[in-house]
Amino acid sequence: MKAIKVGLLGIGTVGSGTFHVLSRNQAEIRGRAGRGIEIAMVADLDTARAKSIVGDACEVVDDARKVIANPEIDIVVELIGGYGVAKSLVLEAIAAGKHVVTANKALLAVHGTEIFAAAHAKGVIVAFEAAVAGGIPIIKALREGLTANRIEWIAGIINGTTNFILSEMRSKGLDFGTVLKEAQRLGYAEADPSFDIEGIDAAHKATIMSAIAFGIPVQFEKAHVEGITALQAADIKYAEQLGYRIKLLGIARRREQGVELRVHPTLIPAQRLIANVEGAMNAVVVQADAVGTTLYYGKGAGAEPTASAVVADLVDITRLATADPDHRVPHLAFQPDAMNDTPILPMAEVQTSFYLRLRVADQAGVLSRVTTILAEHDISIDAVLQREAAEGENQTDLIILTHETAEGRMNKALAQMQALPTVLAPIVRLRKEELA
Ligand code: HSE
Repeated sequence: MKAIKVGLLGIGTVGSGTFHVLSRNQAEIRGRAGRGIEIAMVADLDTARAKSIVGDACEVVDDARKVIANPEIDIVVELIGGYGVAKSLVLEAIAAGKHVVTANKALLAVHGTEIFAAAHAKGVIVAFEAAVAGGIPIIKALREGLTANRIEWIAGIINGTTNFILSEMRSKGLDFGTVLKEAQRLGYAEADPSFDIEGIDAAHKATIMSAIAFGIPVQFEKAHVEGITALQAADIKYAEQLGYRIKLLGIARRREQGVELRVHPTLIPAQRLIANVEGAMNAVVVQADAVGTTLYYGKGAGAEPTASAVVADLVDITRLATADPDHRVPHLAFQPDAMNDTPILPMAEVQTSFYLRLRVADQAGVLSRVTTILAEHDISIDAVLQREAAEGENQTDLIILTHETAEGRMNKALAQMQALPTVLAPIVRLRKEELA
């Protein structure tokens, strides 16, 4: 079957990420979607820059309307942003019968009702996974994975710039203005960072989530929006002394009387997982009646994380447009004829680091015999800790952390170490993952 054709409106950071992810993972994506997905046309005012990204792979134009008018294009991806020209182009694409994928949270939070109504009337899809929390599939989780639940509340760190600023203020004791400059220098915050630091970007995203969670229209104008510009380092410090972290949360909560929709700096107990989300990362906690609490964490911005969400939407639309209704989503994600036979590795070939605890005689040469065995098996040591023998005791615990090695190699070394007369009890072996 011929590839589905996509037209990109705007090829900045997310657009170029989308182009690269689609090119790099084309074979797997085809296997999942049932047919290829090809960027056939790109519109950007800076055509030279666009050509430097896509080369000869597709046509580059400076007029978005040429993409919309092209009958070959099945899906239009809007990555221009803002409420202005992006709104007209999305509505024109819908009117032309194109499916639309957009990362534009501002547009949907403010004009979503009009846009979704137009798409509904025309029978096309408007997909927007990339609009909330970048690469985290929170829209899919809320709309599909949690569909059995009555959602009670959602609380999210959904703006990476402000979370970076708050993390730096806390860990370095710096004031807001100093960290904002640093964030701008590192490219986290825009030259005009007001949408981020005033809480507007987070409120756009919270608005979209509130609609999906509670079945209400998008109503950005009713959101309470407070940013972090007035937050002082002293309050972050006092909150910490009381066992709290301050985060800019986007909150949507169902109450008997209505829905709370608000963005503001919020104290959270320091032991909560979400309180430990640091730097530019995003996380969303959803409280729902059947599943309880679930947490979604990941990169909320950046070229490829956001492209990950854009391409997921492209695959969803392709499946809808291609497969018969009985086989829209393959049971195992890939189409049956695209499955492969990559083997599951035997445990001996699995690579991990290890924590070893050896009960050893507290005498000369014990450590060196153990480390010699590890060296003979080419296992590198990361750290060694020897607990001091207790008064009157002649044995002690030797703890060793290793660097990554194959399980089979470690098994052989363990057998030799266990056979040493100075190793007095079964060696405790735990696997260690940095998850970095
Ligand atoms: N400016 C946003 C952030 C990313 O800092 O998280 C795009 O929504």
